[in-house]
Amino acid sequence: MKLLKCLVLGIVLQHASATVGFTTYKEIDEGADNSGTILYSDLFNRSSTLFLYIQITPDGAEHTDIINDFKTLAQNYGQHGVSVIPRVRYGWPNGTIATEPEESILMDDVSTFASIFTDVTGTINIPVIQAGYCQSHGSADTPEDLAIKIKIVNTLLSTSHKVALRYPSDHQALFNGSRSVTLHDDCIFDGGFNGTDGGTWPSGDRQTWIDYIVQVAGNNTFGGEGCNDAGDAMFDWSDYTALCGGEGIAAYINTLQIAYMNYDYPQPYEELIEDPSQSTCVDAIQAALESWN
Ligand SMILES: *[C@@H]1O[C@H](CO)[C@@H](O)[C@H](O)[C@H]1NC(C)=O
Ligand SMILES: *[C@@H]1O[C@H](CO)[C@@H](O)[C@H](O)[C@H]1NC(C)=O
Ligand SMILES: *[C@@H]1O[C@H](CO)[C@@H](O)[C@H](O)[C@H]1NC(C)=O
Ligand SMILES: *[C@@H]1O[C@H](CO)[C@@H](O)[C@H](O)[C@H]1NC(C)=O
Ligand SMILES: *[C@@H]1O[C@H](CO)[C@@H](O)[C@H](O)[C@H]1NC(C)=O
Repeated sequence: MKLLKCLVLGIVLQHASATVGFTTYKEIDEGADNSGTILYSDLFNRSSTLFLYIQITPDGAEHTDIINDFKTLAQNYGQHGVSVIPRVRYGWPNGTIATEPEESILMDDVSTFASIFTDVTGTINIPVIQAGYCQSHGSADTPEDLAIKIKIVNTLLSTSHKVALRYPSDHQALFNGSRSVTLHDDCIFDGGFNGTDGGTWPSGDRQTWIDYIVQVAGNNTFGGEGCNDAGDAMFDWSDYTALCGGEGIAAYINTLQIAYMNYDYPQPYEELIEDPSQSTCVDAIQAALESWN
């Protein structure tokens, strides 16, 4: 009996470190009261990874309180075996998103958080860090934007955690063909099975971009969040027959080799995932995610 228990625990731990699956969105904001968020509470039972936005102010502050909040969260969730995928972004305490500050402040902040993400190694598992700074992308990038992006990614890579870029076109411009950096797709299935995920990749030559994404990010801790409100939005997420069908989300996950996805967005997706009467479909989605590294 005891042996069996140990084996079960061993399998669970191995499983937890090898796969991510459904992630749970949380956010902590500099200047706000994050005490409720950083306190441990059980996640939805199909999820054991947080997708965490860390929102900081763009004014060159030292970020002492938000860093302490993040460390407390890492301690509280890490000791329950929960992993975290962090993304730092800029915004004000009133919730308004802010644009990135000038390069010297930006790079100071990236270095600060890179060392925090290094510090928490051993406290909490970090499957991947999303390099979420810089709003323009792809063809809209200036050479200056690209120069900053590569510095950001290289600084985050120094943590020895995996790093994800938001846009395949940025990836190609900076790390052409390399699996040393993966991707985070913030708009999965926006246009359904044949879509371009809200403009995540250019709409021309779709298959070339799919091939590129699979080459660099497939089975490489590639993940993201579904969406229904960007460029090519046309898929109805409340159509569970389509969502659970042969050209539904599980098939899409397997085509792109996606390893994690927030389960709680868009709303009809959350309702599906949480609905015990839909467990056949949800089990298939979860199994698809967990079949990829
Ligand atoms: C997970 O939670 C749901 C309700 O949200 C419940 O119906 C289900 O039985 C739970 N599963 C396990 C394995 O605890
Ligand atoms: C939020 O705060 C920022 C910085 O103080 C300010 O510029 C902005 O106008 C505020 N936004 C709202 C909606 O109050
Ligand atoms: C990326 O690499 C491929 C294959 O080596 C090459 O054909 C392509 O021109 C490169 N693209 C860029 C943007 O560097
Ligand atoms: C996707 O495209 C393929 C090939 O053009 C087509 O056969 C299929 O019906 C499309 N699927 C959807 C859901 O639009
Ligand atoms: C996915 O990656 C893992 C190791 O990271 C490897 O063992 C597995 O074979 C890969 N799957 C496929 C289908 O390539």
